[in-house]
Amino acid sequence: MSDIVIANGRTISGDNIDIKISEGVIDSIESAGTLSGTVDNEYNADERLVTPTFSEPHVHLDIGLTAGEPRWNQSGTLSEGISLWNEYKQDLSAEDVRERAEQTLQWLAANGVTRVRTHVDTTEETLTGLREILKLKKKYQEIISLEVVAFPQAGILSDPQHEDLLIEAIELGADLIGGIPHFELTYQDGVESIELAMDLAEKHDCGVDMHIDEVDDEGSRFTEVLASESFKRDIGDRVTASHATALHSYPNDYADKVIGMIADSGMNVITNPLDNSVLQGRYDEYPRRRGHTRIDELHEANVTVGIGHDSIMDPVYHYGTADPLDAAYVLIHYAHMNGYTDVGTIWEMLTKANASILGAESYGLEPGAEGSVLVFDGKTPFDVLRTRAARTAVINDGRIVAKTDPAQTTLSGPTGEESVTFTPK
Ligand code: FE2
Repeated sequence: MSDIVIANGRTISGDNIDIKISEGVIDSIESAGTLSGTVDNEYNADERLVTPTFSEPHVHLDIGLTAGEPRWNQSGTLSEGISLWNEYKQDLSAEDVRERAEQTLQWLAANGVTRVRTHVDTTEETLTGLREILKLKKKYQEIISLEVVAFPQAGILSDPQHEDLLIEAIELGADLIGGIPHFELTYQDGVESIELAMDLAEKHDCGVDMHIDEVDDEGSRFTEVLASESFKRDIGDRVTASHATALHSYPNDYADKVIGMIADSGMNVITNPLDNSVLQGRYDEYPRRRGHTRIDELHEANVTVGIGHDSIMDPVYHYGTADPLDAAYVLIHYAHMNGYTDVGTIWEMLTKANASILGAESYGLEPGAEGSVLVFDGKTPFDVLRTRAARTAVINDGRIVAKTDPAQTTLSGPTGEESVTFTPK
């Protein structure tokens, strides 16, 4: 693999730099102009923001791009969305899953994502989706590193077949065990589903990532069970609590206890602002709760919180774009993170937190780190968030895997003046 220099990029702290990547690893970072011209393969960042690549910790590739099939979700509720998916998955074809998931991976790559964790429904009894996505994991390995969660969407204990399907999914190659304890038939089944998933994770040396307490019900109390099991088994660093929206509605003293347990267990949390901004509070009169997990309090307790995109045009949430900046943009509004000091927090969540949840070992913009870098059509993290700027170049392990020409508008000049061309944001 030939060396590459990304010339004249601007760091988050405002320094102009050249980055040289050799054998897929950042070899050196010097002041702009120092490394330019030293190798044949050069990309001119033109004083625009350069950062490490994005990691996407929570999507559903098997259900993506099914919005409107067999019908649109008219109510916009989670229950109607799940019913539509249950209908759709009755005759899922390999070709259909492959085409949709591949398109979604291409969108993710164009948006600067080089590491993805996808949940895949294992209560679809042929496991067609899982098999196809495992094939894509291999096909796309040089562009995106893909982790697959065996996700029993309809519950583990709700049907005698589901545990066997979950085990089969692990044997086929799934990387993590999923679950949805609040969706099980009873509280006891929910607790048992967590214990069962943790047992399987220990037996098969897998991580665990559960959709947990994704409701507004303050009585939904499975996050404490997941934290407790993680702590007692000492496997918290491999466990993720996805959503945890009920934490929003818990009484403050109980929320404080649960956040302390999450911190002590070492498990991660992933918030999914796009889906949860429209799915939560659906049963409320006014005032209507936002129903979002407590990011500020989790951060105060030093819990790693990632930002997930979740649905990408599926019946649960229609508007997904596969762009982490869109999820971050909604989070800024939804979680009251619009203060200027929040820019750094959001950026850390998008980059370091998400990468760490996905197990990145040498992540960062420094010599010795993986040679995976983004160049944005913007100069600062604030401006990139505000405009959700195009990623003009996506470099994965020292290879340019995607390039995008940013949109340009030409506006007719007012009377007597020439037209002007600019980026329309
Ligand atoms: Fe999800």
